[in-house]
Amino acid sequence: MRIDPYERVWIVLGLFVLVAFLVGVIASVTVFGYHLPGPAGYVDPRRLAQTPPFDQPGLRQIAPGKYEVILVAMTWTFRPNEVRIPAGSEVTFVLSSQDVIHGFRIPKTPVNLMIIPGQITRTTVRFDRPGEYTFYCHEYCGIGHQVMSGRIIVESASASR
Ligand code: CUA
Repeated sequence: MRIDPYERVWIVLGLFVLVAFLVGVIASVTVFGYHLPGPAGYVDPRRLAQTPPFDQPGLRQIAPGKYEVILVAMTWTFRPNEVRIPAGSEVTFVLSSQDVIHGFRIPKTPVNLMIIPGQITRTTVRFDRPGEYTFYCHEYCGIGHQVMSGRIIVESASASR
């Protein structure tokens, strides 16, 4: 079979790009550890309010400089919707929804997650800079979606005790 020289160049280029992308995908998983966030557990959304730890939403300190926030999403608010921590804290968010699918985004951080009824979502993020971080639902969840937000207040080390 005769292949036109120009055609041959494009075939080689196309194969090269395919192989380069394949190597990129494999390297990102094996070398750089990229992965999709998976569910951190399962829970019955109808009994969320009675199921620990979601029966007691809120902030708790788990070690010096380390906090955990149990956060329940519902139409159309987060419980709690205000969290106050000192700068330099490492905060683990443990989230679930009691009704429909919500989103969880904290601008100025890498946090960008889905909150799915029946699943537990977990992420850890460090807040070094004092200031106010608004978090919000980024998944359309009904008529009150646009008011579904809250804030994290990171206090400078001198301000907190
Ligand atoms: Cu919850 Cu949009």
